[in-house]
Amino acid sequence: MIILGIDTSCDDTSIGIIKAQNNKGNFKILSNIISSQVNIHKKYGGVYPMLAKREHQKNLVFVFKKALKKANLLKIKNKKSEKDNKIQTIEKTLSREEILKNELIKFLEKYEKPKIDILSVTTGPGLDPCLWVGLNFTKSLSYYWEIPIVPANHIQSHILVNFLDFNFKEINSFFPAVSLIVSGGHTQIILIKNIGKYKILGETLDDAAGECFDKTARILNLEYPGGPKIAEKAKKIKNKNLKYNISLPRPMINSKNYDFSFSGLKTAVLYKTLKDKNNLKNERYIEEMCWEIQQSVIDVLIKKTIKAAKDYKAKAIFLGGGVSANNELRRQFKEKIKQEKLKINFFVPPKDLCTDNGIMVAISGYFNYLKNKTKSWKKIKINGNLKL
Ligand code: KG4
Ligand code: ZN
Repeated sequence: MIILGIDTSCDDTSIGIIKAQNNKGNFKILSNIISSQVNIHKKYGGVYPMLAKREHQKNLVFVFKKALKKANLLKIKNKKSEKDNKIQTIEKTLSREEILKNELIKFLEKYEKPKIDILSVTTGPGLDPCLWVGLNFTKSLSYYWEIPIVPANHIQSHILVNFLDFNFKEINSFFPAVSLIVSGGHTQIILIKNIGKYKILGETLDDAAGECFDKTARILNLEYPGGPKIAEKAKKIKNKNLKYNISLPRPMINSKNYDFSFSGLKTAVLYKTLKDKNNLKNERYIEEMCWEIQQSVIDVLIKKTIKAAKDYKAKAIFLGGGVSANNELRRQFKEKIKQEKLKINFFVPPKDLCTDNGIMVAISGYFNYLKNKTKSWKKIKINGNLKL
């Protein structure tokens, strides 16, 4: 079975294609194409939904074509088809996505229906205008080629991408599990009783961890997205002979619940840099500040996740979301589990599958399909605040 996953929930236009062995798991990646809009949003220091929507419109057909080609599923028709009456419905479905509409119609007239069994698309959480483009694109394909759609929750997708290389028996042996999803929009600790059975144990009360990296990077005049930039600067601190002695808070680290709060950390960085404004052009000061910001976030994330895993007797911890690409976070998690001699399996996706991608949506869609969550294209809607 071949599944194509589409994610346009934020600023990346992502399409991934996987092959699933029926009822076995162990997915094979056929293609994973991502068109990043980072250079556009860099100028503004964050993502503007309407600007991102326009870029998705421009990118989708290109990314789609590239993904099909890489997976060996792109075939030109022998004869270009005449405008059929199905096109009228597509014109209506994409009436608010003019750029995309014209590109897609040209594509459908030129190429044959690919051998894809299921289309999966992120319907939330995310930015509403961005989610709509991805969904309307997928609806058009579903209608035109008569391929079923399965909606996917973006957070579930970040969790389930961890199952890429496992079979069903192995996957079932990991439950109950605890997952930490850390991205630009979310910071949540989730108890997984089974696939589809989740309980949010705790989450951020204000900013997400990735958002905290992005905002503090901006204070330090570093480019968007801030997470990788802060990690890069922090890496320069090899020995802990710190010259500037910067000390930032670890918000809520000792609270009894599993919630987080990162806006206080951002404010602490703001006040500290206002006080030290003469140092802002000093590279060593910036590196030490980045190291401390990163460590503060890591300390809180690890402490709370391990506590949840112990309290709920989890057999595994699954990380996911853009921030889980952070090398130090990955290393220190492993070290902590080893140090405490915990009998907990620790999993984190390969780095390119931590940030938003279509593969995770395809995997998530496949599990939803097994639970009969296929829907008629006419009935699917987006929900920017969709809960797990
Ligand atoms: O999951 P994702 O791609 O998009 C959302 O769903 O939000 O996560 C993006 C976030 C950004 O805030 C970015 O700064 C952060 O992930 N990020 C990182 C790293 N790579 C991306 N944060 C820390 N270290 C990284 N290496
Ligand atoms: Zn994400």
